[in-house]
Amino acid sequence: MELYKFHVFLSMVAVLFLFPVVHGWGLDGHYTVCKIAQSRLSKAAADAVEKLLPTSANGDLASVCIWADRVKFHYHWSSPLHYIDTPDNLCNYQYKRDCKDEDGVEDRCVAGAIYNYTNQLLSYNKGNDHVSTYNLTESLLFLSHFFGDIHQPLHVGFTSDRGGNTIDVHWYTRKTVLHHVWDSNIIETVEERYDDSNVDELVDAIQKNITTGWADQVNSWENCSGNKTACPDIYASEGIKAACDWAYIGVSEGSTLEDDYFLSRYPIVLWRLAQGGVRLAATLNRIFK
Ligand code: ADE
Ligand code: ZN
Ligand code: ZN
Repeated sequence: MELYKFHVFLSMVAVLFLFPVVHGWGLDGHYTVCKIAQSRLSKAAADAVEKLLPTSANGDLASVCIWADRVKFHYHWSSPLHYIDTPDNLCNYQYKRDCKDEDGVEDRCVAGAIYNYTNQLLSYNKGNDHVSTYNLTESLLFLSHFFGDIHQPLHVGFTSDRGGNTIDVHWYTRKTVLHHVWDSNIIETVEERYDDSNVDELVDAIQKNITTGWADQVNSWENCSGNKTACPDIYASEGIKAACDWAYIGVSEGSTLEDDYFLSRYPIVLWRLAQGGVRLAATLNRIFK
């Protein structure tokens, strides 16, 4: 191989390693949830987040919100923590029944992970000089990422199709799977059509909806009653309902999804991104009181 071609080949390999296949919302979904969340933090929570963020983040939580997907292969134990598989066609969720990994180990699902990393972060307040048994930087990055994942309807999906991962569909003319439509394709199409491919404009549009159209719902999103710090079971129950009512409905193996599906589903995606961001902020505000 000529030296030049070898160079091109090496850069392609590098790109593959830098951008592995993502899981959960794609990059823009996670970015959006964390941007919204960071803008709603109390002074105490904003200070704690700034202290815990890695220096590479330059104070921007959104820039590292996808980190948990990047380490899934290196931290192999963490891969079942991104989702919940519920019984096929039941359209409901129960922690005790469903929050386990494929080997049946309890608490190993995205709701269990949210409880776990919330508890770890609570030790920040007790620590001397913020020394803790845990790596609280990693706890913060995991928690922020999992708030995104649990709000992706198909991350609380049916067991046999792995949350739509085994359902082949066409998104307009492109071949993909239903799961990926909800992780990425719907958001990408919104950006192309309405915001000219700019994620920051998508964030702005959602922020406007939070203060106008959805303003009367926001208090109830933030609510986590019974003196609890985190409420992932509420989000998971909403998630499997949305998966049944909006993601799976009308779709079968080989379906072509286009304008009818896109125009009726994208508002649900924006609404879930808003809820994820508002709730991550409310939870961090409760943790760092
Ligand atoms: N693997 C198995 N079920 C999954 C789901 N609901 N989402 C993502 N990955 C999965
Ligand atoms: Zn994920
Ligand atoms: Zn996913």
